[in-house]
Amino acid sequence: MVYTRAYKMRLTMHFLMRRISILERRVSLVRQLLGSFVLIAMGLTAPAIVAQKVELSVDVSKGGAKIDRNIFGQFAEHLGHGVYEGIWVGPDSTIPNTRGIRNDVVAALKALKVPNVRWPGGCFADEYHWRKGIGPQRTVTLNPNWGGVIEPNTFGTHEFMDFLDQIGAQAYVSVNVGSGTPQEAAEWLEYMTTAQPTTLAKERASNGHPAPYNVALLGIGNESWDCGGNMTPDYYLSQLKIYSRFVRNFNPAQQDKQQMLKIAVGPGGAEPRWTDWTETIMKAYQHHQWSWDMNGLSMHNYTVGHWPPSFASVGFGETEYAQILKFTLDMDDLIAKHSAIMDKYDPQKKVALVVDEWGGWYAPLPGSNPGFLVQQNSLRDAILAALNLNIFARHADRVRMANIAQMINVLQAMIMTDKEKMVLTPTYHVFKMYVPFQDATFVPVVFDAGTYTHGDVSLPRVDAIAAKDKTGKLWLEVTNIDPNQPTEIDINVPGITPKSAAGETLIAPKVDSVNTFEAPHTILPKPVSAKAQAGKLTLKLEPKSVTVVAIEQ
Ligand code: AHR
Repeated sequence: MVYTRAYKMRLTMHFLMRRISILERRVSLVRQLLGSFVLIAMGLTAPAIVAQKVELSVDVSKGGAKIDRNIFGQFAEHLGHGVYEGIWVGPDSTIPNTRGIRNDVVAALKALKVPNVRWPGGCFADEYHWRKGIGPQRTVTLNPNWGGVIEPNTFGTHEFMDFLDQIGAQAYVSVNVGSGTPQEAAEWLEYMTTAQPTTLAKERASNGHPAPYNVALLGIGNESWDCGGNMTPDYYLSQLKIYSRFVRNFNPAQQDKQQMLKIAVGPGGAEPRWTDWTETIMKAYQHHQWSWDMNGLSMHNYTVGHWPPSFASVGFGETEYAQILKFTLDMDDLIAKHSAIMDKYDPQKKVALVVDEWGGWYAPLPGSNPGFLVQQNSLRDAILAALNLNIFARHADRVRMANIAQMINVLQAMIMTDKEKMVLTPTYHVFKMYVPFQDATFVPVVFDAGTYTHGDVSLPRVDAIAAKDKTGKLWLEVTNIDPNQPTEIDINVPGITPKSAAGETLIAPKVDSVNTFEAPHTILPKPVSAKAQAGKLTLKLEPKSVTVVAIEQ
């Protein structure tokens, strides 16, 4: 009800603002024409770049859902150099490390306050057998999913947990449903979590960790409709019930509070096969018995355009910039579609929609192993990340967790490494700028986004979200999608006279600008502030930029 009224108000405001903005545009057009006549008369040319005006209102009187910090989760799969070289270099490496885990990567990730890391896959998870990755003697196997390379299993359960401890994140462990058994998964959880002196707990202690591990999140399979075993929804549902029942967390600290959340495989798109999937799982959940449960339904959605991925990750122009961002915005419809099905069977929203694979997926970089999913990360990816995070925030009542794919050296990564070198990507900087939104309360913003058009692609010119953090501080994010025109945002906070706003803005010379090992600071956040005048703030945004400011009241 609250949302319906708010939505109606938003629509009314939207149309009002649109009218005002059309009038303003007409007045400004007449002014520009007059100006041009004067300039022509003076023998001069009119300036090409005109800052567009946007009136934006932050409605602090209305509180929305909590933007769960788990929305900023990461994904580290045994794929290419995601784990080996990206995280793990081994204790004997000349690259500075702590117990085999690179120090530079840990320091960078700590600054992101990473809430959780999904591991070991992906498709890899459904071929992972945990016993091969514990103890002094590791079993060397293959990684048939990703390039058929050697999997040394030197990074296993203990190394993963050590990595999490070092960066301060929680474990999101995906168990093997495709080629494993419920018994194997149950024993893995017993090995990790029991405090009682069972044989498995003693084995864990002899491998260096007497205390039980905390496993906050459990993924029951991965893409079981495809690489996870090509199951029908009904077949997967029966597996889900069995795994949910028998794969237990015994950690005494996770019995009443901080219980492990179980995440079922969910959809991978909007086609009927995936809506059927969501229907089947959620319908069963509605009348589920005591013996099984789930707390989340996973959803995977990459910005890819079409399969196989063919958009270049670098060396592209405005056309590919606009096209990729248009595909990005499809996330909103997809979430709305599956949320509507979930609402039917779970109106109290007990089950979270967990977007645990998202990001841009482009053609592999020339010369790289195609199985390693290596791509560059440009300013376009920073905008893509901001748009997705804003969509998740707007759906925060249902989307309570997400994991970008992936953390290091794979797909839309935070970090890229090459031996001892490390570079932070534009996506990394966006995640850092969004830290204040972790666990903040969503605050509605009303604005007329306007339109940016390139060729046959039209997009909203700007996007924005606001939130109040735990200390009551108000945060605003504004993305200027338009790669050519700056924007001037007039920020109103009805009922309050904002004093100032300051924060950071991420800008770049070109839509495909990247940070490289040779030039790692091409795209870096820069300080930005807004001027207060006549009870509102004016914030100037560069073309194609992501900006986060704190509003001082
Ligand atoms: O992130 C790469 C792969 O994409 C994952 O392993 C799989 O789940 C998805 O298809």
